[in-house]
Amino acid sequence: MKLPLTELAVMKRESRPIVMVTAYDYPTARLADAAGIDIVLVGDSAAMTVLGNDSTVPATMDEMLMLARAAARGAKRPLVIGDMPFGSYQVTDEDAVRNAIRFVKEAGSDAVKLEGAGPACDRVRAIVGAGIPVMGHLGLTPQSATMLGGYRAQGRTASEAQRLLDDAHGLEEAGCFALVLEAVPAPVAERITAAVGIPTIGIGSGRACDGQVLVLHDLLGLYEGRAARFVKRYAEIGAAVQDALERFAADVREGAFPGDEHTYSIPDDELARLDDRSA
Ligand code: KIV
Repeated sequence: MKLPLTELAVMKRESRPIVMVTAYDYPTARLADAAGIDIVLVGDSAAMTVLGNDSTVPATMDEMLMLARAAARGAKRPLVIGDMPFGSYQVTDEDAVRNAIRFVKEAGSDAVKLEGAGPACDRVRAIVGAGIPVMGHLGLTPQSATMLGGYRAQGRTASEAQRLLDDAHGLEEAGCFALVLEAVPAPVAERITAAVGIPTIGIGSGRACDGQVLVLHDLLGLYEGRAARFVKRYAEIGAAVQDALERFAADVREGAFPGDEHTYSIPDDELARLDDRSA
C-alpha cells in the first residue's frame, strides 16, 4: 500500500527518520521499495548520473517524464516525487502547474519537487492550488549553482542562514509538505528543522533533519565524478559491473562462453533430416 503523504508529518512528530533516495528506473525503484525506502525521488540529478551531462540544467520534461514513469512502476509503497527540471517552472505559474500535472497524469508521480524560494513560493501556491503536493528544496540548489558561486555549502554566515530560515517559512506557508535542505551547515539545518512544522530531508545537512536523502548512484558507487563530502558509499557496484563485463568479454574471446548449459538442443533425428535436405 502507498505510504500516505500525511504519514510524513506524523514521522516528524514522532522523530521517526524519513528515508529518501533517488531512483530513475523500474529496477532500482523496485529495489528501493523492497528495501523499505519511504520516498523515491526521480531527481533531475538523472541529467548527470544517467544521461551523462555535466550539470542538472539540461534535463528536459520529456526525459524526466520517461524516467519518472519507469520509477513509478517499480515503487509501489514509496511516495514517488518527480523533480521539476530547470525551465519547467521558472517562467510562469501556468507553466509550473501544466508541467506538474504532466508528472502526475503522464508519469504517475505522487508529488513534485522544485528548487528555491522567492518567486518559487508563488509556483508552489499555484501547484498546490491545483491539488498536487510540492516538496521544496533550499540551500545548494543545483539548478542555480552558477548564481550561488558553484557547488558549495550555503548558509554559512548569519545573514545567509537567516535567509534560509525565512525561505523555509515562506515555502511552508506556500504549502510545501516537506523541504530538502542541501549542503546547509548542521546547526543551521537543526534550527530550520525546529522552526518549521513540515519535515526537512537533509543531504549534507547533518543529523538533525527529519530525514535523509542520497543520490542512488553516489551511494552505490556507480558514479565516476568527484563525490561531495556528504556522500557515503554503501556499495561498489560500478567496480562489480566492470569486473563482470571484463570476465564476460574474456570468456567470449576465449570461447568459454556460451557453455553447453547455455545452449538449446535439437533431437538427433531432426538434425539428420535437416542435413539430408541440404545434402
Ligand atoms: O536531483 C536530485 O537528485 C536532488 C537531490 C540531491 C535532493 O535534488
